[in-house]
Order: sequence, then structure tokens, then C-alpha cells
Amino acid sequence: MRITELRKKIGRTDLYIPDLHIEHGKIHGLTGPNGCGKTTLLKLIIGITQPDSGTIDLEGLRPTDITMTSQRPYLMHASVYDNIVYPLKIRGVKIDTGEIDSLLTRTGLMPLKQQYAGSLSSGERQKLSFLRAIIFHPSMILIDETLSNLDPESEALFRDIILERRDQDGSTWLIVSHQFDKMNSIFDETHYMEKGRIIR
Ligand SMILES: Nc1ncnc2c1ncn2[C@@H]1O[C@H](COP(=O)(O)OP(=O)(O)OP(=O)(O)O)[C@@H](O)[C@H]1O
Ligand SMILES: [Mg+2]
Repeated sequence: MRITELRKKIGRTDLYIPDLHIEHGKIHGLTGPNGCGKTTLLKLIIGITQPDSGTIDLEGLRPTDITMTSQRPYLMHASVYDNIVYPLKIRGVKIDTGEIDSLLTRTGLMPLKQQYAGSLSSGERQKLSFLRAIIFHPSMILIDETLSNLDPESEALFRDIILERRDQDGSTWLIVSHQFDKMNSIFDETHYMEKGRIIR
């Protein structure tokens, strides 16, 4: 994906990205101070927000191949299982119950499969929103601070899942994180943002 001359005025921030190449098949880390425009950039990429000018060339990806997890995940008023299968149902993708159960077991959510998603703890919500995002094997995954409430063991597990998916699916990841020290080991590329600009 290549971003060229992208501009968006949002509140007091002027987002301006003259040239950013997100190479496919790699894991990209994105960090920067609160309010510098990271979430805005992800929303522009996925199309929730429209730019004032500039282009985002998906370089062959279809918009439906891209998924984003929110900093404040919205879950459906339904069970954990229903939340996970929803992206498959709306895309008409066959439900692979073996894969779902395997992911639920690995991430410790299996005992909560039929539980109301609204009753989950904060870390459990993050795990569920992550699984819901990756269940249909998207080509590009935008992660907005979604793994920040995980215990160290779970964090390591999710890093492993991301690496596996990159290797197996050749998927592209753009991961916003304030915990670069912990996540750095899996990043192929890192991008630093400040006041609406990518500075390095
Ligand atoms: N709808 C809006 N109206 C006005 N200002 C907005 C709007 N959305 C975002 N902003 C402002 O734009 C700036 C960038 O917001 P953004 O959410 O992209 O920051 P961020 O880098 O994701 O920060 P954080 O690390 O806190 O998540 C912030 O100053 C925010 O207050
Ligand atoms: Mg944000």
C-alpha cells in the first residue's frame, strides 16, 4: 500500500503524509504521542474517514480484505461465539469450527464461548476483538492499541499468532502500540509519528 500526499485536518491536528509505503507481507509498527494522528491514519486507510486530499493506493488489495481493531472495541450484544462468527457470516465464508475452537482454546476463551460478550473483562474483550478481526484471514490487519491490556503470557501468544499469520497468509500488519519495547521483536518496519507527520 502506498500513501501519497495525504492530508486531513482533524481538530487542531493537521495530518500530512507525503509518502508512506506499507510493504505487503510485513509487520509494521506505528507509534507516537497521544493525539498525533495514529487512529486517524488507520481510519483513513480503512475508509471510515475521508481524506481532504491525497491518495491511498491499496496496490491490489480490495477494501473488504482489510480489517481494523478499535482502541475501544465494540462487541455485539451476543455470545463470544456469535461475535467471532459474525465476520464469516456477512462474507459468506464457511465456518471452520475446528479453527475457531483452536483459537479459543489457545487464547483461553474456550470456557467463555457461550458467555455474553458484554460481561467480558477488558483483556478478554481485547482478545475477542482481535480474534474476530483475524478469523476471516484478511490480507491487511490494522491493530489500534488492541493488545495493551494483556498479561505477559497472553501478549507473547498474540505476538506468535501475528507472526504465524504473516508467514502462513502473507498478511500485512500495521500495529499501533505504545509498548514498542515489547512489540519490537516482531516488527519488520517501524514508523514514528509526531503532530500528524511520520518523522522516521
Ligand atoms: N472528530 C474529531 N473532531 C475533532 N478533533 C478530533 C476528532 N477526531 C480526532 N480529533 C483530534 O485529532 C487528533 C488526533 O487524534 P487521533 O485519535 O488520531 O490520535 P492518536 O494518535 O490515535 O492518539 P492516542 O495515542 O491517544 O490514541 C487529536 O488531537 C484528537 O483530539
Ligand atoms: Mg488512537
